[in-house]
Amino acid sequence: MARVKFVCGNWKMYKTTGEARELVRALAPLVEGMGGKVQVAVAPPFTALAAVAEALRGTPIDLAAQNVHREAQGAFTGEISAGMLADLGVKHCIVGHSERRQLFGETDEGVREKVVVLFKAGLLPIVCVGETLQEREAGQTLAIVSRQVKSALQGLPSADVGRLTLAYEPVWAIGTGKTATTAQAQEVHAVIRRLLVELAGGVADEVRIQYGGSVKPDNAAELMGQPDVDGALVGGASLKAPDFSRIVKGALR
Ligand code: PGA
Repeated sequence: MARVKFVCGNWKMYKTTGEARELVRALAPLVEGMGGKVQVAVAPPFTALAAVAEALRGTPIDLAAQNVHREAQGAFTGEISAGMLADLGVKHCIVGHSERRQLFGETDEGVREKVVVLFKAGLLPIVCVGETLQEREAGQTLAIVSRQVKSALQGLPSADVGRLTLAYEPVWAIGTGKTATTAQAQEVHAVIRRLLVELAGGVADEVRIQYGGSVKPDNAAELMGQPDVDGALVGGASLKAPDFSRIVKGALR
């Protein structure tokens, strides 16, 4: 089955509402005409979601969020629910990003709870997995990534598994300029695909597995040319419209 490639920009904690609108205005014409052949989304910070939702109207770009709280509502000061995101027109939500795992104590179990709450609200999770440099050097990459994937999928109906996006992001490649080689990326993506087959059967073929970690205009096409690399989760290079649009074009080759 041919999976439509999926490129998502993760803006992290960058962009005021004005800057966010400006970035979308610059980006939209550059990706026009690519809709349908590649799926494109941007994940601004919570504060810019409403402004970006408005700016994206009439463009082929989807709105994504960077995080969500695991409960539907309640006394959780400072948190945002899946229903609130859906209300703003958010379609996808990143969960389990390594920055959240490392800096904010996000656990495998917490990631699973967020996946469930997102599907319940009609949103599509992008679940991030990946090993640290220390884990890679200790030969634990495949074990770590498998554990993270298994845990995120535990108890999910297979129809939901098919609507999931996974993002393999080696922690040592994020924001460092060190990209995994295409062979390193494909090796892990293929292992994830086999694991998905084991866990969910034929629906595994539908799951997009993005690569993330220092994706740039000049390495994007080669990475996404690998058989099991179905797109990219892009941090730094998504903050500039020309760079991000060149990465999106890389998905078309
Ligand atoms: P980077 O970030 O592209 O800046 O390495 C990727 C990510 O954190 O999703």
